[in-house]
Amino acid sequence: MKKIITFGTYDLLHVGHVRLLERAAALGDYLVVGISSDQLNVNKKGRAPVYSTKDRIEILQALSCVDETFVEYSLEDKGRYIQEHNADVLVMGDDWAGKFDEFSNICEVVYLPRTEGISTTHFIGNISSGKRVEVSGG
Ligand code: CTP
Repeated sequence: MKKIITFGTYDLLHVGHVRLLERAAALGDYLVVGISSDQLNVNKKGRAPVYSTKDRIEILQALSCVDETFVEYSLEDKGRYIQEHNADVLVMGDDWAGKFDEFSNICEVVYLPRTEGISTTHFIGNISSGKRVEVSGG
């Protein structure tokens, strides 16, 4: 069985997240997602997610392409998480291109292109101003 692992906050789930997860899942047989804890998000992005860690986990677990989730508490522990889950492939969006090459000694590292035109941060801005979110393609 080929195991894929990926990481992210996945706050206010949007089509960019879903496409990334579906493409990641298609690379193997089993998809594990490390979901950033609320505190890690504060450290990483300077703000708490809108949805709690518990709710983000519940939402991701409801997706048919996601087999397993766990909470990522620390960016420094990525190597340990990859090994604990026996992952064969680490998938990251290409906003992280090159940043995880150090793990290519323990698994394959793949960067997938991001979906243009949407991010949780933009989404929050759009909601506040009542604007619709339109994403092309897919
Ligand atoms: N992602 C993607 N396309 C987008 C947005 C995100 O493929 N338009 C991918 C990221 O590359 C990452 C995963 O989805 O692999 C989770 O990203 P996350 O940081 O949680 O989502 P963003 O929408 O980028 O959040 P933010 O605006 O808060 O940075």
